[in-house]
Amino acid sequence: MKLSTFTCNVALVWCSLALSASANPLYTKCIACHGAQGEKAALNKSLVIKEMSKEDFMKALKGYKDGSYGREQKAMMKPQVANLSDAQIEELASFIAKK
Ligand code: HEC
Repeated sequence: MKLSTFTCNVALVWCSLALSASANPLYTKCIACHGAQGEKAALNKSLVIKEMSKEDFMKALKGYKDGSYGREQKAMMKPQVANLSDAQIEELASFIAKK
């Protein structure tokens, strides 16, 4: 009885950790550069994206896609966003950018 309660709790903790780590599959490939919560300046060059407004975040991603946004490292971002739909960009913005 004791043991099974213990196992169950461990499984629950593990499960919620696993869930929070992959809360949004669209963001998984961004983590290496921008941090799990968007808290890092990618390659020390980008803005801290979790501090961006949702509007600015979406403008940036759409701009990397069509070439209308970006600075000297924008070539890094283009392949990241090339296949994202507007709906996916909005989903990412809701997930990472400032509310
Ligand atoms: C290989 C590293 C790398 C990956 C992976 C990456 N980024 Fe970036 N990101 C950068 C760099 C570098 C910049 C700054 C580019 C520039 O000079 O305009 C940037 C800029 C941005 C910006 C604009 C911030 C600014 O400084 O103007 C947003 C928003 C952003 N990234 C979101 C994402 C999202 C969302 C993903 C995943 C789909 C992602 N990035 C994946 C490196 C990366």
